[in-house]
Amino acid sequence: MGNLVVVGTQWGDEGKGKVVDLLSEQADIIVRFQGGHNAGHTLVVGSTTYKLSLLPSGIIRDDKITVIGNGVVLDPWKLLEEINLIKSYGVNIDKSRLMIAENTPLIMPYHRELDQAREAEASKKIGTTGRGIGPAYEDKVGRRSIRISDLRNEVILRERLEVALKHHNKLRNYPIKIDWLIDQLMQIKDEVVQYCMPVAEYLNEQTDKNILFEGAQGSMLDVDFGTYPYVTSSNTLAGMASLGSGVAHNKIPNVLGITKAYTTRVGEGPMTTELFDEVGDHLAIVGKEKGTVTGRDRRCGWFDAPQVRKTCMLNGVTSIALMKIDVLDELEEIKIFNKEYITMPGWKTSTIGITKFEDLPIEAKEYIAKIEELVGVEVGLISTGPERDQTIFKKDAFF
Ligand code: GDP
Ligand code: IMO
Ligand code: MG
Repeated sequence: MGNLVVVGTQWGDEGKGKVVDLLSEQADIIVRFQGGHNAGHTLVVGSTTYKLSLLPSGIIRDDKITVIGNGVVLDPWKLLEEINLIKSYGVNIDKSRLMIAENTPLIMPYHRELDQAREAEASKKIGTTGRGIGPAYEDKVGRRSIRISDLRNEVILRERLEVALKHHNKLRNYPIKIDWLIDQLMQIKDEVVQYCMPVAEYLNEQTDKNILFEGAQGSMLDVDFGTYPYVTSSNTLAGMASLGSGVAHNKIPNVLGITKAYTTRVGEGPMTTELFDEVGDHLAIVGKEKGTVTGRDRRCGWFDAPQVRKTCMLNGVTSIALMKIDVLDELEEIKIFNKEYITMPGWKTSTIGITKFEDLPIEAKEYIAKIEELVGVEVGLISTGPERDQTIFKKDAFF
């Protein structure tokens, strides 16, 4: 049996949620390993649209086990909100299906407030999601996180909070009172702690299972290799699947790079192929390019081949899932950036819902072949719509 990591090769929102949901059918366990509820993964199943931020996309399939690894920063209040939301769709969630690593750092209210205050005051904004992600990761590296297992013991919790608040109260206009915060945490403690498990040990024992690691954000938002400082605060590359879950890196050989057939970005920062004309507007409208988490408009542009080539190298991508090809359907011509622009003819016919590669128009096949040539990785899956069955499997085994 094999393990697979799914990562975004651009600036996020490539369609990871759809692919993870689809491939979850072939997986036993689905693991989130970095990021937090800054992620917004959309799954369309029949008439239901699920928007997940924290829970692994496998959660909606009742027979799958889902795991939140230590690489995630977890807002415990948002976790419970999302569990209740997904339960309201009739999905069963309990500790037999959801496990959270004991060493997962928590996002506290002071993280969210600091994130938002900085964005409000900054002369050069990052355009964060305002969820407290950055400050929570700072505290992890600064050795002052509250970790989920700390909720089990009020004495330890108080000790850790004293350290954290000593730091944070200096940064605030009004101090947070430790008793108030402990009281807030004690109210949700039992509900949250029931999912707490030694996840690394569990996952490493599952040698006869397929484990799917679900990346969040995209490679260009990686804190080391992205467009720094316009990045998120975690490592988003495939290597993080190991560190963010405790599964040894040589046990995760397959890397699927989720890649939009064009480029989008939400938030500030450079974007080489950004379009400011009616073609950009067309991509935004047809592609429904609005942020899942914040509702902000996504910036749109042509496919950037050197960028995807580089992120495929960094991730060790073994196969590409090329998403939203149908969004290009009506265009007269389509451009690909590769030092200068290459112009290709559009296909000007609907590809929505096509399931066989042979049925794609010749111009679409040529566009895909050009991307394969420029990026140097084969396209193993093509997505022709948001729904599960609107998919072409060029390759059928991904694990
Ligand atoms: P993620 O963050 O990578 O999971 O992506 P998001 O869910 O934020 O954004 C992708 C959006 O595109 C979602 O609304 C999906 O339902 C939608 N989507 C995914 N694949 C396709 C596709 O092939 N065609 C179209 N038209 N929409 C798609
Ligand atoms: P998914 O998983 C797109 C962006 C934010 C901002 C920067 C830093 O849905 O692909 P943060 O709140 O993380 O400190 O914000 O990162 N960002 C995303 N952009 N998709 C995401 O997730 C993102 N998560 C964060 O817009 O520019
Ligand atoms: Mg998203």
